[in-house]
Amino acid sequence: MVTGAAGGIGAATVAELRARGWAVAGVDLAPSTADSSHIVDLRSPDVFSDLLDDVEARLGRVTGLVNAAGLYRAVALPETTSDYAADVMAVNVTAPIMLCREVISRAGGGVSIVNVTSVVGRIGSHDPCYGASKGALISLTKGLASSYGKSGVRVNAVAPGVIETGMARSIPAERLERYLETIPAGRLGEGREVASVIGFLLSEEASYVNGTVVDVNGGLA
Ligand SMILES: NC(=O)c1ccc[n+]([C@@H]2O[C@H](COP(=O)([O-])OP(=O)(O)OC[C@H]3O[C@@H](n4cnc5c(N)ncnc54)[C@H](O)[C@@H]3O)[C@@H](O)[C@H]2O)c1
Repeated sequence: MVTGAAGGIGAATVAELRARGWAVAGVDLAPSTADSSHIVDLRSPDVFSDLLDDVEARLGRVTGLVNAAGLYRAVALPETTSDYAADVMAVNVTAPIMLCREVISRAGGGVSIVNVTSVVGRIGSHDPCYGASKGALISLTKGLASSYGKSGVRVNAVAPGVIETGMARSIPAERLERYLETIPAGRLGEGREVASVIGFLLSEEASYVNGTVVDVNGGLA
């Protein structure tokens, strides 16, 4: 199951996982190219159990979860409202927690999860809600890996730098310019460059990798 499946990184992840032989359920506000497409607003508190029922009915038990849905509007602290904070936390933190809960409790063992955090989860963001939400995902990843590793559950994260997707277009122009000057690769990343790392972490190739955060950022410090 891939959330944010209609977005830049999510759609590339759907393609990557399908190429690796997975049957993929895509979850987003918009339709995706996944094997089953589920239109869900992840801000709603009560959608998670029904969503898993629906996916299981169409594709069987969920053994892999990628939490890639994300909300970012480049809102600085003075403009931050409690509504914006609640929306960001609902999509970027609460939904991943509830989906991990559903998937782990239904499957028992044999589950692999990848959370899409961000470089700002470590270094902070000019948008404090977004930065805090991505820091929370790193803590979630490490906490679940440690709590459920013995049950055959692996939980890892990727931390992209600046990737050329709809979300990157929300970054203010002069901030993007500054990022470009500091990225050793000299360019933004592409969705498929994040998706290939997600595909690896989700797969058995990464069977001894648990609780780690892999930077995918072109060398950004
Ligand atoms: N693009 C970047 O530079 C970058 C950098 C670091 C981390 N990330 C993270 O990567 C992930 C994917 O982002 P992207 O770059 O592909 O951006 P994107 O905007 O293209 O994709 C995000 C997707 O999340 C979906 N989404 C948002 N709110 C939702 C809701 N309430 N319910 C269901 N779906 C919802 C959107 O519809 C969209 O398809 C996000 O978690 C983002 O925070 C992106």
